Amino acid sequence: MSFKEELNLRTEGVEEIIEKYLPKEEGLQKTIFEASNYSVRAGGKRLRPLIMQETYRLFDGHGKVIEPFMAAMEFIHTSSLVHDDLPCMDNDEFRRGKHTTWVEYGVDMATLAGDALLMYAVETACKGFSYNTSPLNVGHAIEILAQKTGIYGMIGGQTVDVELTGKALTPEQLKFIYELKTGALLEACMMIGATLADASREDIRIVEQIARKVGIAFQIQDDILDLTSTTEELGKPVLSDEKNEKTTFVSLYGMDEAKKAVERLSKEAIHDMHLLTGENKFLEDLFVYLIARDK
Ligand code: IPE
Ligand code: IPE
Ligand code: MG
Ligand code: MG
Ligand code: MG
Repeated sequence: MSFKEELNLRTEGVEEIIEKYLPKEEGLQKTIFEASNYSVRAGGKRLRPLIMQETYRLFDGHGKVIEPFMAAMEFIHTSSLVHDDLPCMDNDEFRRGKHTTWVEYGVDMATLAGDALLMYAVETACKGFSYNTSPLNVGHAIEILAQKTGIYGMIGGQTVDVELTGKALTPEQLKFIYELKTGALLEACMMIGATLADASREDIRIVEQIARKVGIAFQIQDDILDLTSTTEELGKPVLSDEKNEKTTFVSLYGMDEAKKAVERLSKEAIHDMHLLTGENKFLEDLFVYLIARDK
């Protein structure tokens, strides 16, 4: 089977897991379920839960405890997109090939849907306690999930990104934003996969570093695609960064440097994979694939 076929197959498996944890659309608060499920079901590459699952497998994890965490991660990521698209942030009208949640349900419901997905993610991750896995590891995984999402993670990064929009950034500020707004959730994916598979502290530290590099490379590629791709291909508007006068890696260093940085960071990450006590060829191939991703 080719890598692409394998990727499609495993992504389908991830889809099924996410779908299992979506709330039923019933009750007086039905609209919040509809708006949340609309954003999750709109699609997306599902890379974060996939990377989490593959890291779990790398460390010989076999159980199903990873599943509620995979769903939780996709809910958190989707919540970050729902809020990122709001008129008060990036003000974008398309996401994952559909109208953004605020266009479809209004700014009020989209704000609530982002909040709802965030908290429902915690509720979902806590289901990890009902599996035959060390409750200490499950508790630690929830701590990682919260920390890498919150003020020391993705939300911290989005704060600086939004606050400094329209301003010229220093290289340090740009690095801070990328590490947090995009790197942190990737770090959480790999760290949670490792933690639930009972990996050593040293291995957890190494996967955090690997994921940071993958995350920064991923964001730089996102900036590149914002300039070189099409709305049809991406399922979200191109030239969004320019519209918002964002300083990006590309605007700061130029397109050539940006492409080189994606390749360099990804190759470093793949190299660091060999420092781990375990291996996963598919995950390495996935990091190679992401260097040239076109959506
Ligand atoms: C978009 O993430 C936001 C960034 C951090 C760049 P993805 O490119 O993974 O979005 P989906 O999940 O596939 O829609
Ligand atoms: C978003 O960065 C990172 C998030 C935490 C949502 P962008 O604003 O570049 O993401 P896109 O391009 O809208 O997906
Ligand atoms: Mg943004
Ligand atoms: Mg955006
Ligand atoms: Mg972008």
